[in-house]
Amino acid sequence: MKGKYYIITLGCQKNEYDSQLISALLKSCGYEKTEEITETDILVINTCSIRDKADVKVYGRLGQYRELKKLKPNLITIVSGCLAQKDGKKLLGRFPNVNIVVGPRNISSIPYLVEYVQRTGKRRALCELGDMNFEVMPVDRDRSFSAWIPVTEGCDNRCTYCIVPYVRGAMVSRPLEHIMKEAEEFVNSGGLEITLLGQNVNAYGKDKPEYGSFNDILKKINNLKGIERIRFMSPHPANFDDKFVETMASLEHVCRHIHLPLQSGDDTILRRMGRRYTTQDYASIVEKLRQAMPEIAITTDIIVGFPGETNEQFENTMSFVKQMNFDGAFMFAYSEREGTPAVKINPSVPPQERLDRLNKLIEMQNNITFEKHKKLEGSEALVLVETLSKKDGEFVTGKTDKKTVVNFTGDSSLIGKIVKVKLEKAFTWGFMGKFISD
Ligand code: 5AD
Ligand code: SF4
Repeated sequence: MKGKYYIITLGCQKNEYDSQLISALLKSCGYEKTEEITETDILVINTCSIRDKADVKVYGRLGQYRELKKLKPNLITIVSGCLAQKDGKKLLGRFPNVNIVVGPRNISSIPYLVEYVQRTGKRRALCELGDMNFEVMPVDRDRSFSAWIPVTEGCDNRCTYCIVPYVRGAMVSRPLEHIMKEAEEFVNSGGLEITLLGQNVNAYGKDKPEYGSFNDILKKINNLKGIERIRFMSPHPANFDDKFVETMASLEHVCRHIHLPLQSGDDTILRRMGRRYTTQDYASIVEKLRQAMPEIAITTDIIVGFPGETNEQFENTMSFVKQMNFDGAFMFAYSEREGTPAVKINPSVPPQERLDRLNKLIEMQNNITFEKHKKLEGSEALVLVETLSKKDGEFVTGKTDKKTVVNFTGDSSLIGKIVKVKLEKAFTWGFMGKFISD
């Protein structure tokens, strides 16, 4: 054993997956994972940069961990992920305790970079957005029953507010045989749930038509023996077609849940966001999904306070969101990302106004979510148990097919099992349930 490593993951599921790759890489070089930060020899902070808040969080952490270096003079601190890509070398200048800065497309170089820093005592930033090296790398999953599997890296959408194309690069589809190899190995070792990941999953194959389409991936994974649940995030409304809805509806293991980012319920704002669909297009997709799968849960992402958004345009979002009757939503106040086209749109909405609009939207959506949950009170659901509940050791927590959270009395023997639970009491966050049977 060469030493220990500790990984902090911020941001989205793709970052969680990347952390699992980093963990496997460090293990393969003889390091051991620790849950005690003060014991670590290598500290990895896998960062996000989607909103200003995410950046501030990382800067705060980096400042905080300066002290660790005093405890452990040989500590190697690695900053990876989207903020690493965005700030690159600047991070080395600003934080003398950081040894390595590595972008999302350069993760596989971490063992080399660690060795380089140890050998020379120098610091290094490697943030190249060149071609993606898509070998099938070992993954150190923290849950044996559930896997993230990326289908694309990067994004070509260029929504005017979004930093992702700049920090994750252009979209590259992963060869279908790599995706299937990872999926097969996982399912053969007892895995139950696969979540396919991409900034825009249903654009899969657009850069490489010979790989096939996202529908092909869904069909192939649905055929694997042992698979129970297939999820994906996120599709883009502009890449939707009827064939996708048909495919989804025809596959029994694809969960009846879709996360379909709306971003705004006003057509002018959608155009300025560069989203390539209207509210009418979006409503028609939702209608088709609900027609084909009446039980489907639809969740979304919404940004309020985009530059130039008038109160009337915000109210259009409010009424469209109400009309869509979403099962849940992630809602955000617009955050300026340097280098994106939206920062040049005038006038900006004052930050306090953004927050006021956000709170108004959250309140309305929370009521809708709660009412929808309330209607399910007393019904039964199949829950994949994920962990012991953080709140209380006697409870376990898991998710239904629709990705609704359910907490119920149970112990760790249930983790990784799909069990029948009665949804006894509805909350906005999900349900308190009662175990029925295995
Ligand atoms: N400001 C606020 N929210 C943003 N998102 C992306 N970029 C920004 C930004 N600049 C939101 C979008 C996206 C989700 C992952 O984050 O809603 O779907
Ligand atoms: Fe994920 Fe986007 Fe954050 Fe990067 S910036 S970690 S892609 S959410």
